[in-house]
Amino acid sequence: MGKVIFAAMLVDSLKNIALSLTLVQALVVLGLTYWLFLQPSPPIPTLDYDEWWGPETSRKVDRGVTPFNITFSDDMINDLKYRLKNHVPFSPPLDGVGFEYGFNTNILDEWVDYWAQKYPFKQKERFLNKFPQYKTNIQGLDIHFIRVKPQAKNKEIIPLLLLHGWPGSVREFYESIPFLTAVSDSRDFVLEVIVASLPGYGFSDPAVRPGLGPAQMAVVMRNLMHRLGHEKFYIQGGDWGSQVSHCMTVLFPTEILGSHINFGIVSTLKAMVAQYLISFYPTLFMDKNLVDRLEYNKGIFRELGYFHLQSTKPDTLGVSLNDSPVALLAYILEKSAAATDFDNIKFEDGGTRSWRFTKDQILDNLMIYWASNSITTSMRIYAESCSKAHNKLGMQRIKSIVPTWLVQAKNEIYFQPPLILNMKYKNLVNITILNEGGHFLAWEMPLTFSEDVLMAVDVFRKLKSSVEDEL
Ligand SMILES: *[C@@H]1O[C@H](CO)[C@@H](O)[C@H](O)[C@H]1NC(C)=O
Ligand SMILES: *[C@@H]1O[C@H](CO)[C@@H](O)[C@H](O)[C@H]1NC(C)=O
Repeated sequence: MGKVIFAAMLVDSLKNIALSLTLVQALVVLGLTYWLFLQPSPPIPTLDYDEWWGPETSRKVDRGVTPFNITFSDDMINDLKYRLKNHVPFSPPLDGVGFEYGFNTNILDEWVDYWAQKYPFKQKERFLNKFPQYKTNIQGLDIHFIRVKPQAKNKEIIPLLLLHGWPGSVREFYESIPFLTAVSDSRDFVLEVIVASLPGYGFSDPAVRPGLGPAQMAVVMRNLMHRLGHEKFYIQGGDWGSQVSHCMTVLFPTEILGSHINFGIVSTLKAMVAQYLISFYPTLFMDKNLVDRLEYNKGIFRELGYFHLQSTKPDTLGVSLNDSPVALLAYILEKSAAATDFDNIKFEDGGTRSWRFTKDQILDNLMIYWASNSITTSMRIYAESCSKAHNKLGMQRIKSIVPTWLVQAKNEIYFQPPLILNMKYKNLVNITILNEGGHFLAWEMPLTFSEDVLMAVDVFRKLKSSVEDEL
């Protein structure tokens, strides 16, 4: 008898434990869901829209817009060729490796010789000047940009700002500009494109004091558009360009009419936790055809050393890259190869003999860094974006309400499913999934990229007019 009561009590308490466990679990799930998805955005910070980034001594506002051409002077070309030809012998790579230890020097001579002996400097100088370029002073910095404004009767001209990233430049967009600015019977608008060099990149001045991170660059870029007479406009960005464009949508939600991005990433603790949890049952949260992109994501951890270096000591790294075109070439090419396809690391040529870029395209981009002496200042954005002050602004944690269209290339360096992207892009209108392409989409697949941008702007415009109709 006693035994029976004991057994009944045991069953009862086990039941209770089970019940309370599910309660605890339910609370954990509820708490996590609230923390991950329902907590309100932090407040939008107030930035000084006139903050001066140039030397104090030249504090005068100049609203002029001056035509600009890139020049490759004979002195610069001769010095560059001399440096390329007179490098010290390379250390041979280990037997049988690809790019696992970094740039494989077995193929470095091929690139260095091409740059020194075959790259047609004068012809490329003309090529780089094929679109009208200008400079104008914004907050103390001369900002360089391309501006192509097509002529079209009976069509609305729609301004679009294009923003590049690192280690890119305005060169990423040269193949796309003609597609983007084409006049088409099937559209009632044409795009006027403004392709800006971010501060510290190429022919845009760098800041002279600390603090010019992505949020502050967003202000500079918005002020640039105002200078050109555009109070409302569309934006497109990849890499840092997409971070700057996110900040623009947060700070100026009524001015940015729509944002197209080819690199959408939510880099918060919450997003990391959510991504980790999702990885246990991925098919509940994304198309099963995309699950292998989570596996591909792992490649990023192997490649992120540069990020730590550039976000802590960009200037030290810059000394060698600024002095040696061979070092600049090896560094930027190795990063570009990985960003195009992480699997490129397996090959002796880093995938560079079979990728979509010609040598000239790659060297044009290097020339923009070399001719402007800007590699050091271009890398400082990593340090600024990781500073305490920048983190305090909370830009990554603030949700954007601006209509956003994302294109996800197959080999983009990080993939996140819509559930996570919605943590940052609250108004994600559409996601285009591509089964090819990598991190430099405009450069790798200009037609696909341009068609996607044009489709996005078309949809943004229709959304806008339906919102206006309702008001
Ligand atoms: C830029 O180059 C073009 C073509 O050579 C020339 O017509 C134009 O005047 C130049 N502009 C400047 C600012 O040098
Ligand atoms: C989303 O984009 C795809 C192409 O990537 C397109 O076929 C589809 O119509 C778009 N959807 C909307 C709602 O615009």
